[in-house]
Amino acid sequence: MNTAEITALKNKRKITMLTAYDYPVAELVDKAGIDIILVGDSLANVILGLDSTKQVGMAEMLHHTKAVRRAVKNSLLVADMPYESYQAHPEECVKNARRFIDEAGAEAVKLEWFENCPQVTRAIASSGIPVMGHIGLTPQTVDKIGGFKVQGKDAQAAKKLIEQAQELERCGCFSIVLECVPDKISELISGKIHIPVIGIGAGVHCDGQVLVINDMLGLFNRYMPKFVKKYADLSALASKAIEEFRDEVLREEFPDKEHSFGIKEEELNKLK
Ligand code: KIV
Repeated sequence: MNTAEITALKNKRKITMLTAYDYPVAELVDKAGIDIILVGDSLANVILGLDSTKQVGMAEMLHHTKAVRRAVKNSLLVADMPYESYQAHPEECVKNARRFIDEAGAEAVKLEWFENCPQVTRAIASSGIPVMGHIGLTPQTVDKIGGFKVQGKDAQAAKKLIEQAQELERCGCFSIVLECVPDKISELISGKIHIPVIGIGAGVHCDGQVLVINDMLGLFNRYMPKFVKKYADLSALASKAIEEFRDEVLREEFPDKEHSFGIKEEELNKLK
């Protein structure tokens, strides 16, 4: 998958996208034929146990993107730009975006809407690096948008989202993520721009759907937004396996013969 192929999928079929943060999970996602793998800054919450996505920086994002790169053969690999790399330091945005491509092997970067978003997006896109936008609920600036809640719920707020989507298309984005908005507003936005709109909590009318992998696999249970569908309960499976290991060790049932190494009796006798 490349960015042109993703853009061309609009109005043909739905686009699939999931996050991944390490080699084994990225390998599963890639092999399942998911179109886009995002190394999201949700890394902060679901992998590193931090409270805010603002708390991850370039070092962590590059480190995890490199691990994912080693597994991905077919999906398009997109890396999330952390807050510090373009919102705190807009003048550094192109240099930091380039590091994701050159050092970590990403094929595109994603950045969230903020007041200087058009300038930053235009600078990165015109340097030749594909950009995915992100509007609606933007966790990096959650304090400025009234908290973790549905966005675009009245006509004025929805109009702003439509304008942001159109602006990002003009700035050169190849697609956008639309997070946590009413489904009718997503339908309007998807119909007004020519690049794919990939929804999360944005209803069925988007051009594609994305979820955080740890949420949909049941590997992150601290909180669960309404829009997450849990496709598996891997936490429960893992807990059961860990408890079984604990009990078998305590009962001296593990390791058994099958998981141990032997030595010839004659060699052993030489030690006696
Ligand atoms: O960081 C992330 O995982 C994201 C998705 C919610 C799209 O931005």
